[in-house]
Amino acid sequence: MGKVYVCDHPLIQHKLTYIRDEATTTKDFRELVDEVATLMAYEITRDIPLQKVQVKTPVATAECKVISGRMLGLIPILRAGLGMVDGILNLVPAAKVGHIGLYRDPETLQPIEYYAKLPTDVQERELIVIDPMLATGGSANAAIAALKARNCTQLKLMCLIAAPEGIQAVQKEHPDVDIYVAAIDDYLDDHGYIIPGLGDAGDRLFGTK
Ligand code: URA
Repeated sequence: MGKVYVCDHPLIQHKLTYIRDEATTTKDFRELVDEVATLMAYEITRDIPLQKVQVKTPVATAECKVISGRMLGLIPILRAGLGMVDGILNLVPAAKVGHIGLYRDPETLQPIEYYAKLPTDVQERELIVIDPMLATGGSANAAIAALKARNCTQLKLMCLIAAPEGIQAVQKEHPDVDIYVAAIDDYLDDHGYIIPGLGDAGDRLFGTK
């Protein structure tokens, strides 16, 4: 069973409160999501392996550590996932970014991939799938399945807010994938909104409502 990490650092919780607030402007919403993504990136990269190196300080040789070249890939699910990419790149600027676009088939309600552009070496990378809202889990599950179909094996899922239903759905379908969230909310309403949530993350990021 994949683990669920709630990134409950006070700075993250503080910023998330303003992200939820309907009075927050598009500009502030975007900036706050970016900042929370940076703070969450700090948690999600906690297990990156290090290797020993020596450096010469002005006065001696120091035994030090650097990240051991494990390659990261960020995979935002279009479109709301885009809002968290730059915040993560602040901390891991060498990560490559791939994009996956999904729409819901109006008849089957299943997510269908309409776009995928991934790094050529995506199979060798540790991938962070990004979607701010983990609601039913349908999109996250489809994106993870699309990456597994391309032989990707090292996957994490990063969201701002998750519904318990979404967490269960991902844990059931992809028990090898750990999930990182800033908050777990109460439930999904009949329209698929997370309650209390923050509304439509894409609309609030891009000012389309
Ligand atoms: N997607 C959103 O943007 N918000 C929700 O509450 C659920 C899914």
